[in-house]
Amino acid sequence: MSVDFNIFDAQKFSKFTFLSDKIDTVVKTNEIGTLILDSYISNLQNETQNEEEVKDVCVLDSYIAEISDLYGFDVKNHLENEGCKGKSGSTLKISLPKLNADLWENLPNNILVVGLGEKTLDDCRKAGLELGRGTVGTQSACVPFVDSLTDEQQIAFFDGILLSCYRQTRIASTNDLKDPVVNIFVLTQNEERVSENLQESRRIAEATILARTLECVPSNVKNPKWLAENFEELVKQCENLDGELVFECMNADELRERGFNAILAVGSASVTPPCLVTIKWIPKNVRANTPKIVFVGKGITYDTGGLSLKPRESMVPMKTDMSGTATVVSAILSIAKAGLNVEVTAVATMAENAMGASSYRPGDVVKTYAGSTVEILNTDAEGRMVMADGLDYAISDLQADIVVDVATLTGAATFGLGRFHAATYSNDNEVWNKMSKASSVIGENVWRMPLVDDYREVLHSPIADICHVETEGTVGAGSITAALFLEHFVKGHKWCHLDIAGVGRAGKPMGEVSTNQPTGFGAALLYGFVKEYDK
Ligand code: BES
Ligand code: ZN
Ligand code: ZN
Repeated sequence: MSVDFNIFDAQKFSKFTFLSDKIDTVVKTNEIGTLILDSYISNLQNETQNEEEVKDVCVLDSYIAEISDLYGFDVKNHLENEGCKGKSGSTLKISLPKLNADLWENLPNNILVVGLGEKTLDDCRKAGLELGRGTVGTQSACVPFVDSLTDEQQIAFFDGILLSCYRQTRIASTNDLKDPVVNIFVLTQNEERVSENLQESRRIAEATILARTLECVPSNVKNPKWLAENFEELVKQCENLDGELVFECMNADELRERGFNAILAVGSASVTPPCLVTIKWIPKNVRANTPKIVFVGKGITYDTGGLSLKPRESMVPMKTDMSGTATVVSAILSIAKAGLNVEVTAVATMAENAMGASSYRPGDVVKTYAGSTVEILNTDAEGRMVMADGLDYAISDLQADIVVDVATLTGAATFGLGRFHAATYSNDNEVWNKMSKASSVIGENVWRMPLVDDYREVLHSPIADICHVETEGTVGAGSITAALFLEHFVKGHKWCHLDIAGVGRAGKPMGEVSTNQPTGFGAALLYGFVKEYDK
């Protein structure tokens, strides 16, 4: 018996309301529980001649004098006494005691100061996250300072607030997680600009949150068919698009007819057969001279390792081995909702790497969709097999100009880079530059890895076109050799590969994500990547 699991159970986001009143009118409405003030460190280096005089100072938004007047104490002085320097991601909560006199009556009884650091996009995102965390479980908060932020800063700031609303799914009879602040009042003189930016943040944060939600589902619930059905439903729920979003699913019979033998081999021992989903975004107005982009995502709904069985501890988190597909699907939904004028297709290659009498074996030779023969040495390197078929399909049938693939491919990616940078490979500098730019806007880190020419020879097979893992353990660069294997299928097309095995799961509690649970890394990044082509 499976547990109930509905990914459409609404994630509770705070409700945003824009107000253009004066701050004292707003604050005195009696509706607001927490007043949010910003503080940031500005470096005075440019304004002073003397290097020694340079020191960090805490600058507060323009409302500080009014707030001090309203409350009858010097808020800035209070912050200085508390050592609040406005550091990125820092907060200071001033909870006002109840007075006998009516001095503070009708005023918000909490003031939360969030540090904006140097106001980089990461700083702004962190401030938003901490704003959300600092107001959890409360009714209302008022944010007066957004007008002083640029568009990009606003987007990052709202993105942070929305991400703080994520609640990891719990399939339990009790749920003690507190909801995010119910109402956020945003004080602005430019509602149009702020609401446009908030909408953009929604598309970004919702991509991350949907990816996390899908990745979190346990594997006794999700299998290839379950994912395909949910993807179809998600596509159906996209309304009023500025173009067409087309869902297609090839079931195992069709995969067999058409020769997707690598996906079939990986999924051969599972009671839930593999399938391949394509979701195509065809905008009404395609921007001239933009490339056709195809995403390919690894969708292993559970990775036991197959006959080359994983040790029991490493198997536990393998429900997240479909993160690549969650990433590409979540990204394309946001791309469609935003109406980006670029043709994009997401390919989700889905199979369960189970173990049984019908498993594929070490020593087998498998012919991929476009006809390459691959010698299997280790059935736990299944990701690159399903990706091989996916990449073949992207190149030969979908005529991709640029292919971006995303996969929880190798444990080696984590050894090399840890949990904060995705091992990223590209055979094209322009594509890499766009990915790198998107990374700095979105706040998901990529690190370019080398496609080392000298390592190619270790994939030589005595019997087939290519071996799918190193023949002898001489090179030892597991993430790089996996990338080199994938490159074989790209056939010289422009390509970028994200090995998200490290960044895809939290190694320690990370805000709303607990240890070993998925981060949704990559969905927002791919959205940002396509946006770079719509300029
Ligand atoms: N799904 C794993 C990679 C992985 C490891 C993802 C840890 C997330 C966390 C992949 O299928 C795998 O097992 N890769 C092998 C490749 C090896 C057999 C060449 C690995 O990394 O050990
Ligand atoms: Zn594996
Ligand atoms: Zn895997």
